[in-house]
Amino acid sequence: MTSRRSVVRGTGSYLPARIMTNAELEDLVTTSDAWIRQRTGIGARHIAADGEFTSDLATHAARAALDNAGMDAGDIDMIVLATATPDQTFPATAVTVQEKLGITHGFAFDMQAVCSGFVFAMSNADALLHASHGKRALVIGAETFSRIIDWNDRGTCVLFGDGAGAIVLELADDNADSDPRGLLASDLRADGRYRDKLYVDGGPSTTQTAGHLRMDGREVFRQAVNLMSGVIDRTLEKAGYTAQDIDWFVPHQANRRIIEATARKFGWPDEKVVMTVENHGNTSAASIPLAVDVAVKDGRIKPGDLVLMEALGGGFTWGAVLVRW
Ligand code: UT7
Repeated sequence: MTSRRSVVRGTGSYLPARIMTNAELEDLVTTSDAWIRQRTGIGARHIAADGEFTSDLATHAARAALDNAGMDAGDIDMIVLATATPDQTFPATAVTVQEKLGITHGFAFDMQAVCSGFVFAMSNADALLHASHGKRALVIGAETFSRIIDWNDRGTCVLFGDGAGAIVLELADDNADSDPRGLLASDLRADGRYRDKLYVDGGPSTTQTAGHLRMDGREVFRQAVNLMSGVIDRTLEKAGYTAQDIDWFVPHQANRRIIEATARKFGWPDEKVVMTVENHGNTSAASIPLAVDVAVKDGRIKPGDLVLMEALGGGFTWGAVLVRW
């Protein structure tokens, strides 16, 4: 039977050159390398240079994904850019990326679901491809969280970093009788009752400032595994798979303990979990495509593998997406 699916054609990523170690943070706030590693698994994070913007990170990652796909920018019909740290309030950073890539057709927009942004972007790009809005989508997660961090708040400044990752999706006919390739299912959720657990204390309509990130880390931690388990269960059920079928679990990289607890719940051994939090920190919407690109480039994720991505972020928003590579 022929069906049409959004198939991954290429991946790419970009990290700013500057690496900030835990030891450097010891000079800024009362913390220690040992505490950060033990509570989060983070050893270092990348920080964007002065004058280096979210759109720059996103454009680097997009070019790398296009190269990997063997495509030109002109092949792309839509850009969906997940970010909570846009260059400007408007226009959408996706439009700036479109211009930097030299694309003058199709459309581009930002997706704001904070750390879940990439999962939301994948699901929305897939829906738009199926609704005949084009054949190829560039789905990007890009963030400069270093710009909204309160560097005096040890509860948050040790956690986040900057970076970008991108995936090229192409709507393709699938003639396979079994094991179809492409995006198979997703499940998205939001619940605004949790909005004060993780937020930025500024914005154009309220303070006319960009604001700083504020988080009740303990409460986010308490909710994370349970909420994410629900969307994972529903995504697997929609696609007709079980946890045992998964080849690679690529979670949002917020905290090693949350990732390990989620993997344990579903019975996934360490060898099936892609973990980059040690070197990247939490890069919000960029964390999943960055981790995906690492695992594709080092040969772990291969065509035919079943890959489950999931995230939870401010809002709360949370979601999962299942892709046969
Ligand atoms: O990406 C979006 C989703 N975000 C997340 O998933 C983040 C979820 N939350 C977390 O990852 C964790 O809650 C944190 C890593 C933020 C904190 O770890 P925790 O084990 O929940 O620690 P805690 O907040 O319960 O704090 C324990 C202690 C406190 O001291 P007291 O009250 O026990 O004396 C904190 O003040 O650790 C203290 N503390 C620190 N100590 C050294 C908090 N931050 C630091 C720090 N260095 N950077």
